Amino acid sequence: MLELKSKLPGAGTTIFTVMSRMALEHGAINLSQGFPDFDGPPLLRERVAWHLEHGHNQYAPMAGVPELCEQIAHKVHALYGRVVDPQREVTVTPGATEAIYCAVTAVVHPGDEAIIFDPAYDTYAPAITLNGGITHRIPTVYPDFRIDWDRVRGTVNERTRLIMLNTPHNPSATTWSQHDIDCLREITTGSRICLVSDEVYEHIVFDGQAHLSLLRYPDLASRTFAVFSFGKTYHATGWRVGYCVAPAKLMQEFLRIHQFINFSTNAPMQYALADFLRECPQHHCTLAAFYQQKRDLFRSLLAPSAFRLPPSAGTFFQLAEYSGVSGATDMDFVNRLTREHKVAAIPVSVFYEHPPEQRVIRFCFAKGDDTLREAAARLLAV
Ligand SMILES: Cc1ncc(COP(=O)(O)O)c(C=O)c1O
Repeated sequence: MLELKSKLPGAGTTIFTVMSRMALEHGAINLSQGFPDFDGPPLLRERVAWHLEHGHNQYAPMAGVPELCEQIAHKVHALYGRVVDPQREVTVTPGATEAIYCAVTAVVHPGDEAIIFDPAYDTYAPAITLNGGITHRIPTVYPDFRIDWDRVRGTVNERTRLIMLNTPHNPSATTWSQHDIDCLREITTGSRICLVSDEVYEHIVFDGQAHLSLLRYPDLASRTFAVFSFGKTYHATGWRVGYCVAPAKLMQEFLRIHQFINFSTNAPMQYALADFLRECPQHHCTLAAFYQQKRDLFRSLLAPSAFRLPPSAGTFFQLAEYSGVSGATDMDFVNRLTREHKVAAIPVSVFYEHPPEQRVIRFCFAKGDDTLREAAARLLAV
């Protein structure tokens, strides 16, 4: 029997697939995987249909449909004040996931070291491992998940080539502060460190706060692959369209890899997104208020429960500390919630290399209000 030696021997199936499957199997409300249960703007969907019918069904250019790259460049300039060359500094990718993989692959050679912060989105460490890199995982813990910058300073050495960050952050729903930016700047200045900045929730920042994109800071942007997701912005995670913005020199290497992984991203969606961004350039500005209403509704519905709810400053996630409800591990607890109470959630320990002593799960509130009401009613009965 032919057997393969795994390059990711410790990796099982991603928790998002596991929990969504379990939710389906047990007829549970799925507040686990991060996707909306509603569709994106009708005009955008009409534009997709139009382009499907009007011959945009062949390979798109490798780096993306030029009209879309231009719209992305306009948007980046309008939001973050950064002038980017749409032809050399923007690549449209099949989701942020491929962009993250290409960026890591562009930077990390065997033996290089990379720093990520736990709890970490689950694609980061495998991407580093597959490239022969060594991952240093620096933990942050409930309830504030603050980064221990002294520990980062103590971990960086001459072999460190990459720091990966994510703001607004999945799963903690925290956002970076100016202090975090200043520390990152101090640590990377004069170094050979590149940054992968996962900003897929850039538009979902609450309570009037601004999103601190690394693209706002020219010195940091000069070493950054900034990664975004149209899936999150337009409630269309299944379309698999994201993009990366990086300085031309970095993007050149990114493209060498992207061309052999996916070559290009699906064409009709790209043309449709270009049309939509041109016609409704302000649409993303509505997203924060839209999700803030859902956050507030979900939090108020759960307020009488024994769950403790830390602040959710961004993303469409709400953490819940459940030690007042159960002493079970988070994996056992989400199993029970799904099977017995018919609400699926994500255990937060899976995002850690060494899970701390905390009983915390993550709910996704990107759901219709009635679904949130029904889920909350079930959770109050736990
Ligand atoms: C932090 C983070 N990064 C990246 C992704 C992947 O985005 P996409 O669906 O565009 O590949 C997700 C999706 O859940 C995410 O939460």
